[in-house]
Amino acid sequence: MDFYVVCTPGLEPYTAWELKSLGLKVDLLSLPVRSPDVRDGAGEESGGIAFQGTLKDLYRANLHLRTAGRVLVRFGSFKAASFAELRHQAARLPWEQFLTAGRPVALRVACHKSRLYHQAAVAERVIGALGDRLGQPPPVRKAAEEDDGTGPQLIFVRLVENHCRISLDSSGPLLHRRGYRLATAKAPLRETLACGMLLASGWEPVSPLLDPFCGSGTIAIEGALLALNKAPGRNRTFSFMDWPAFSKETWQALLAEAGRGRRAREPLIQASDRDRGAVRAARENAERAGVADRIVFSCRAVSDVEPPPGPGWVVTNPPFGLRVSPRNDLRNLYAVLGKILQTKCPGWQVALLGPDRRLVGQTGLRFAEKAAFRTGGLAVKLWQTRVEGSATSS
Ligand SMILES: C[S@@+](CC[C@H](N)C(=O)[O-])C[C@H]1O[C@@H](n2cnc3c(N)ncnc32)[C@H](O)[C@@H]1O
Repeated sequence: MDFYVVCTPGLEPYTAWELKSLGLKVDLLSLPVRSPDVRDGAGEESGGIAFQGTLKDLYRANLHLRTAGRVLVRFGSFKAASFAELRHQAARLPWEQFLTAGRPVALRVACHKSRLYHQAAVAERVIGALGDRLGQPPPVRKAAEEDDGTGPQLIFVRLVENHCRISLDSSGPLLHRRGYRLATAKAPLRETLACGMLLASGWEPVSPLLDPFCGSGTIAIEGALLALNKAPGRNRTFSFMDWPAFSKETWQALLAEAGRGRRAREPLIQASDRDRGAVRAARENAERAGVADRIVFSCRAVSDVEPPPGPGWVVTNPPFGLRVSPRNDLRNLYAVLGKILQTKCPGWQVALLGPDRRLVGQTGLRFAEKAAFRTGGLAVKLWQTRVEGSATSS
């Protein structure tokens, strides 16, 4: 079967690496899939990567992928230059393998350079085809942006140059919703991006990790989950669990397998923030994630940070832009961060998420651009450097 993993633009190489680590057959030609005129909200609008496998592989991808947003089944692909052709071809697809009678559906339709361009009319014909196939059309719901809960089966219909591709969502709520982050602080990072930062930084999950601007704790918690080899999807449900083809035994076996092969040495993970409420939220989140005893949290300003014995990695998301504090304070904050890094973290690797070189340059350190992402509609970059000097050994 053909699958497509949707991820935040910029995360594709890390998602591809994860897929390959799971032993899945990745289609490298699909990397990256992005073109400005097909940004369409139809499932493949952002970054992503294709792979092939079985339904069991699809379960594994949902259970284990840390940087992916959702996993789609590429269900049907055919020419459709008229409504009659669209309905006829769509009715030939084996919907009954994925939909039980009465399960609501939600459609996201995108049309580009095609004779069929009216999205609502296209949706109507696909629903008609479903009715033809299943005996009666399913109840239709609106496709919510974030489709929370176990709601409707999400169906993506994409018409490009009179060619129709139909994909089914297998994930349900987006995969960054691991279920642990119920408490948030200011400007929280998506769990998938936090994990992408860790992978991009080259952090070895046995080395010390420090986040001195931890907010709700996302980077530290994702680091601990990675180090402990805990599958991010082990505590949640997925859309594929409602498919007639779903095998509970296979899923239970995968869950039992997940988490085996823990590393012999666990890293020291330290996270702090000057905001007491943020640190409380981070601790609560870590508890829900089952990693509270693996992270040392403290409430302190960056100027008071005491790193664990190194060398290690500082991976962090300091405030930037207007989302957290006005720009004038920021220059000073980055200068303080730079001083702390140079005096207390010689030999450490530092990876900062930030919008521009000027701001990270206030640290006095020479950063190289490691990766570029989009988050919350903002273009951001991961800046990386190694602090000069010899490290104290652990
Ligand atoms: C962008 S947020 C971090 C969000 C975090 N990555 C998350 O996922 O929740 C920046 C954090 O830096 C903290 N902060 C701002 N100034 C600070 C300072 N001088 N020392 C320590 N923390 C500070 C804020 O309280 C805020 O929680």
